[in-house]
Amino acid sequence: MNPPNRKPRHLAVIMDGNGRWAERRNRPRSLGHRAGVRAVQVCLEFCLEQGIEALTLFAFSSENWNRPAEEVGALMKLFLRMLDNEVEELHRRGARIVFIGERGEFSQLIQDKMARAEALTRNNTAITANIAAGYGGRWDIVNATRRLAAEVAAGRLRPEEIDESMLNRQLSLADQDPPDLFIRTGGDLRVSNFLLWQLAYTELWFTETLWPDLDETTLRQALDDF
Ligand code: IPE
Ligand code: IPE
Ligand code: MG
Repeated sequence: MNPPNRKPRHLAVIMDGNGRWAERRNRPRSLGHRAGVRAVQVCLEFCLEQGIEALTLFAFSSENWNRPAEEVGALMKLFLRMLDNEVEELHRRGARIVFIGERGEFSQLIQDKMARAEALTRNNTAITANIAAGYGGRWDIVNATRRLAAEVAAGRLRPEEIDESMLNRQLSLADQDPPDLFIRTGGDLRVSNFLLWQLAYTELWFTETLWPDLDETTLRQALDDF
């Protein structure tokens, strides 16, 4: 029998490789994004099973707005579909849903559904599912800085009072422990403007597996290596 492993409490995931998964099959990239939905379910199921307390998924970055309009449109359609179809199930499984990122860029309909999903699931305790959408680590830090600058401008804060913990409180996920394990699928060894501040001491794990091919074995491997 293997010795018991140290288990991560907060897992952060860059779900990468959808486009390549589809291109290898000579299919449109949007098909890869649709295929990625199953992997989200696999990942969430795994985290629930393992008793992981928080899962942060990078669903759409601030830079992803620069992709071709057709691809962005397909992603928005998929996002809406997930908000309509997956939220109920997440709620049933006891997940608290939190969105992080710049919401103002999304359609009003998507923003409303985000708010509704958060309100519906706010008291759930089985797992916290943070969905990073329109998120960028640099955006996060700029946003936090602006808030503190506004306090300074209003005369409520002196610049020399600003320290790490004060800045931290203005950042996304401030109310949660930082991720202790980071996984990126798709084979690229970079962070791509995901949680920059919050990943300062996170263990990083990369796999060639493309996101739609994600399975429990891969996730188990990441946890075993942790
Ligand atoms: C990640 O897959 C999903 C999103 C960015 C929304 P990609 O679309 O980046 O797939 P690859 O990396 O091009 O294969
Ligand atoms: C990171 O993947 C963003 C998401 C998975 C949502 P990208 O595919 O957008 O990142 P780069 O372009 O490879 O750095
Ligand atoms: Mg990619």
